Amino acid sequence: MKVFVFCVISLYCVLHSNGNDVHDTHVASLYHNQAVKTRQGKPSFHLRPPNNWMNDPNGPVYYKGFYHLFYQYNPKGSVFNIKMSWGHSVSHDLINWIHLNKALVPTEPFDIKGCWSGSVTILPGNKPVVLYTGINSQNQQVQNLAIPKNLSDPFLKEWVKYVGNPLITPPKGVKGDNFRDPSTAWKGKDGNWRVVVGGLRNNLGVAILYRSKDFVNWILHDDPLYFGVDTGVWECPDFYPVSTNSRSGLDNSANGKNQKYVGKASFRGHDYYTLGSYDPFKEKLIPDGKGLTGSSSDLRYDYGIFYASKTFFDSVKKRRILWGWIPESDSSSDDVKKGWAGIQSIPRQVYLSDTRRQLVQWPVAEIEKLRLNHVSFYDKKLKGKSLFEVTGVTASQVDIQLSFNLPKIEEVEALDPKWDDPQTLCTTKPANYSGRVGPFGLLVMASQDLTEQTAVFFRLFKDNRQFVVLMCSDQSRSSVMQGIDKTTYGAFINMDHEDEMISLRSLVDHSVVESFGADGRACITARVYPQFHENKEAHIYVFNNGSRDVVIKTLDTWSVKMGRGAITD
Ligand code: FRU
Repeated sequence: MKVFVFCVISLYCVLHSNGNDVHDTHVASLYHNQAVKTRQGKPSFHLRPPNNWMNDPNGPVYYKGFYHLFYQYNPKGSVFNIKMSWGHSVSHDLINWIHLNKALVPTEPFDIKGCWSGSVTILPGNKPVVLYTGINSQNQQVQNLAIPKNLSDPFLKEWVKYVGNPLITPPKGVKGDNFRDPSTAWKGKDGNWRVVVGGLRNNLGVAILYRSKDFVNWILHDDPLYFGVDTGVWECPDFYPVSTNSRSGLDNSANGKNQKYVGKASFRGHDYYTLGSYDPFKEKLIPDGKGLTGSSSDLRYDYGIFYASKTFFDSVKKRRILWGWIPESDSSSDDVKKGWAGIQSIPRQVYLSDTRRQLVQWPVAEIEKLRLNHVSFYDKKLKGKSLFEVTGVTASQVDIQLSFNLPKIEEVEALDPKWDDPQTLCTTKPANYSGRVGPFGLLVMASQDLTEQTAVFFRLFKDNRQFVVLMCSDQSRSSVMQGIDKTTYGAFINMDHEDEMISLRSLVDHSVVESFGADGRACITARVYPQFHENKEAHIYVFNNGSRDVVIKTLDTWSVKMGRGAITD
């Protein structure tokens, strides 16, 4: 059991702890004094509040010139506590942030034990409203409404809770601790609003659908909009349309011809989604594939550490943007010492892949405003079993993009059909396990002697004359410190016949490594806590540990300066 005593419900304990036992930190205490002298991995261009604990992104929205991000926030410390508030930050460009006062705090019988996750919907007349989960005085999860006190304030600083709260209480068959996180609402052709709430009913993970004419009186639809077998309780469901013929985003209420739907749920520590069509008469998301099941959901936003995400439609730039919570992988006692825990991912634009079989994610273009010192080269052969250092950039704050030519298919090893789990494959064949074509990729947050290094790399296989690319993020040597989770992550990347190269982009921000494979077809986020003095000593290398040479087609890298509103102390 973890340090936070407020973990009354075991599932929260699993998700909101970082998986390390308190006793591990005694082992690590030797290193620990050293750690407190350094920046302790503080990110410089990822969003987090000045201090304390943060988890889920809540209610992202654009309003009167500002992007708003609310988030689950514990004002009292840097560990999880069920008595959550809504933290609030605003930005005009998604990169430079102003941290505001808390937007919602537990005050009323319908939320006195916590203001939990929820969403913002813009009602006609450009009126934003919040639907959020309150933990009421009986420890039940109920859905509440809040509206801005002053619509002419672009910062939306003050929120008023509706006097008629709660609007929705747990329906029959759903326990009071399994009913939360209302989605952004959408309007059907019949003029009624719809919203989904996550939960567990009859042992199924469910996105429970409600309809309303006025946003206050909500009627339960008997069947869930979508559901999953063997998943446990669903958290933070998200449901939205994506365009089938453009990368532009769509408003949640759009219902034109060229669109598909995404149904997402957070469970068992990951964010899974399915693509499908939406039948508004039956109120059903009909998945193209297997849908979301515990054993075989294969579509994930991120194959690393990334949870409880939420999207919103950016009406100004006509794009859909995804935010996700990136928890820490160090121990809770480290977090107590640091005084902060949890960050938000770089906001990612999401759109449907050309194959229409998956989503693609790419850091919003605004992040490029923070780039400095461009270093690049083209067409460089990287011999088997070799590596070289990329210099001229600040390796602890870097945006690095490379592409590698794909070899002839004859040159790659065949994929053993038993190797169906990419994470296991990355763990059993880590960065130092030589193959034929691969592993090749990056060593980031590396000490000069390579004692500490995080390897983000590819390994190439074939299956019936089709490339199968394995993407890995190997944290096993990321830090000499004990008591941190160094799990290796992996994903298979869907390759097309036309692909001639494979690309990798990593955004390295001290303790965060967010990586995008094949132009964003697979994403892996990792947290790393090397103990060398990161600002002066971080190095970045390109390596090839396969027996065959590979060709780097392009390499472009930049130092990334700090976003305004980033926390430097
Ligand atoms: C997901 C979650 C939500 C809940 C919130 C509490 O991480 O458990 O289901 O509303 O966090 O902070």
